[in-house]
This record gives sequence, C-alpha cells and structure tokens, in this order.
Amino acid sequence: MNPTLASAQTFRAIDVIRKKRDGGELSRTEIESLVNDYTRGDIPDYQVSAWLMAVVLRGMTRAETAALTDAMLRSGDVLDLSSLPAKKVDKHSTGGVGDKTSLVLAPVAAAAGIVVPMISGRGLGHTGGTLDKLEAIPGFNVNLPVAQFRRVLETCGCAMIGQTAEIAPADRKLYALRDVTGTVESPYLICASIMSKKLAEGIDALVLDVKTGSGAFMKSDKDAAFLAELMVETGERMGKQIVALITDMDQPLGCMIGNALEVIEVVEVLRGGGPEDLRQLCLELAGWMLHLGGVATTVTEGRKQSEKLIASGAVLDKFRRMVELQGGDPQSIDDPKKLPQAQRTMSISSPKNGYVVSLQCEQVGTACVILGGGRERKEDAVDPAVGIVLHKKVGDAVSVGESLATIYYNADVRVARARQLLEESYQIADSPAHERRPLIHRVIGKPGEKN
Ligand code: URA
Repeated sequence: MNPTLASAQTFRAIDVIRKKRDGGELSRTEIESLVNDYTRGDIPDYQVSAWLMAVVLRGMTRAETAALTDAMLRSGDVLDLSSLPAKKVDKHSTGGVGDKTSLVLAPVAAAAGIVVPMISGRGLGHTGGTLDKLEAIPGFNVNLPVAQFRRVLETCGCAMIGQTAEIAPADRKLYALRDVTGTVESPYLICASIMSKKLAEGIDALVLDVKTGSGAFMKSDKDAAFLAELMVETGERMGKQIVALITDMDQPLGCMIGNALEVIEVVEVLRGGGPEDLRQLCLELAGWMLHLGGVATTVTEGRKQSEKLIASGAVLDKFRRMVELQGGDPQSIDDPKKLPQAQRTMSISSPKNGYVVSLQCEQVGTACVILGGGRERKEDAVDPAVGIVLHKKVGDAVSVGESLATIYYNADVRVARARQLLEESYQIADSPAHERRPLIHRVIGKPGEKN
C-alpha cells in the first residue's frame, strides 16, 4: 500500500487534538505523526493551533515532552561541527523584554576562542526575538544555508541564524504559530522548542537563561525552576553539558526595547558601557559560557576574561566581522544613524514625585509589539525602528513632570494604546521598595562547585 495512504488511515489530527483536550497521554507515534505531517504541510494551522492550546491547558508528561523534542529535532538535520577544533557552546533565553544578551554573548565567547553556532528565534508574544534585532542591521541575513553558516563559523567563530528548512524546520513553523495564538506559555512547548533547536546545532554545552517575573513566560520562580529542570534533563539525556540560570525579568533588561534601539544598546555594552543590569547579566552568562567551553577554570575567571576582551575592543571587532560576513552593513555598528530611525517620538511624564517601585514588564513588551515592533499575525512585517527608551527604572527617584520614558513610533494610530500601556506599567510610590530583586535568582544544573 502507498505509505502516505497507510499513515492517512491510521493517523488523524482530530483524534490527537481530542485526546489531548480530554487530558490523555499521547504516544510517541502520535506526536511524531503530528509534527512530521505539520512540517510537511499536510495538517493545517487551525488544527495544530487547537492542539497547541490543548497542550497549554492540559500539559504533557515527561515521555510526551521527550517525544516532542525528539520529533522536532529530527524534523531536520543535526549539524556536525566536529571538524572545528574548539568547543561549541551556545546560550539561549526563554524570552524577555529588552533581552539582547545573545548579540553580546556570541562575539564575547568567539573572541575567547569558543565556537558559537547560534540558532535563534523571532519575537514571541510580548517578548523580542534575536532574529528581529539582527535584521534591524541593514543587510543582515539570518537565513544562511548550512554551508554558508559553517563558513562564517570557520572564519569568525560565531554565526547567528534562524531555524531553516534544513535545521529545526518543525520549530520554525510551530514557533510562528505559537507567537500569534496565545500558545507560548507552556513549559513543555518552550522546552521542546528551545532544546530541538539547540540540540540540532552540534554543540557540546549550553547555557540557558530562564527568565522569571512579570515580563517572563514563567512568572514565578517555581515555574521557572520547573522549566529549567525540564530543559537541563533533556540536554543531559542527549549527553550535553547544560546549566540554567534563573534570572530576573520583572522589569525590562537595560533601557532600550525595540529592534534597532536594542542594537544600539548592544554596541554600548560592546564598547564597555551600557546599563549596569544588562552588562552584569552578559558578564555572568559569558562567564558560564567560557567555563563550560573550557577556556576558563571558573565562572569568575570567565567573567574577568570577558571583561578584558570587551575592554580590548576584540569583541566589538568580532561582532562587526560577523555582521559583515552575514551581509550586514558594518558601518551601522559604528554609526547608529545608519540603523532604521523612527519618524516621531513621544515622552511619558511622571504624574507625581516619588520612586518607581515596579514596572509591569509584560505591558512594556506589549506596548512595543503594538507600536509594530512585534507581530500580531503570522504574516505581519516588523517595524525595526519603533520602540521605547526607559529613562527611569525600579528604584529610581522621579519628580512630577519628569520624563519616565520616550516612545519611538511611526504610525499615529498605534501610539495612543502603547502610551496608555506604558503609563499604566509604572507604579510610583512615596518611598522606594524595601527589597530589590536580584538579577540572578538561582543556578540549576551546576556542574560541581566551580564558582
Ligand atoms: N525561545 C524559544 O526558542 N522557544 C520558546 O518557546 C520560547 C523561547
């Protein structure tokens, strides 16, 4: 019998949707069939959207999560980078607002002699995406074929692309669908999405940045730890060295949110400056990458090496080189006016004297999406120029009328709602909050006491 006909007779997407809707456990074969048929285009978006929502509401067992990760990983090729002599180490974040650390970390680790074959994603829900940020650099190509990806890695030690038809194609499709169907917030789907991409890269080790707080998909430390453990377990099952840092996302990271604006802030960090929270998180994650990559005996030493490499200009040179090799305009790294510019700006002022005690982070991210910095439908184009610059963050003193933030926008119709969300996201009180949240909450999967 024709094999397509045989599988059509035994597998029906509707049965799998109903089984998950009713709380059943799916078999490995059912999950594989769903992933493979959807990747091939044999199941429509609306059925997979319904299945994703059932997973969000019903969850998955460990066996289902492993089957989903494996099926998504096997939907494409696994890179063999064994011809490159250095260790291959990557970092991935579960998603945040103003989280631009990947653009700093890839060149830091490459400057230290590690190979970083980074496969990233686009904006997801209210969070920004590495690929959208990179595409704000005129000409930058995130869709390199594997052979070219490998050449960039050989030449400069780091390369940054998206999921392709060859590598992690199932995640490419599922990711875009989850972005616009309210189906991101499932630890099982996040684990399968991240780990399928990362395991396809041919890496030796991975540093995970699992976000927690009002701007994260996992709002509580408990949920973030659950996700971190799920991913560490998945990576270790595949023989990889994995460490997960649970880090704060209760307010945006750094001060700039929006694709081109975030590239500007990345370059500030690469020049040795930038906001302290962003700089500190980059150094900590870099410390772990260098340690797992075997070029630093401790994380502290990895941090110090990273600081030195940044101060020497070697990291900025590496970033410029990668941009050039991926078709981007290296001049835009040195001259921010060459990056896309918004036509208009609007300032948000403080309604009173006091202190910023909280900054509702998801709302800030949603405001940026509404401005056009993210997508509301799969086919939407992103406006790279729009975004928000925060002048005040949690703990800062403010006076009445002082500017809290500036909105960069192009479309008048979008700005009123974004402004309202941003104004509502600032909570100002007469005295500062008693406790400051730490930047790093916990480390999971620590390989021995190497701190
Ligand atoms: N990053 C990913 O790659 N996938 C997710 O699902 C969330 C964050």
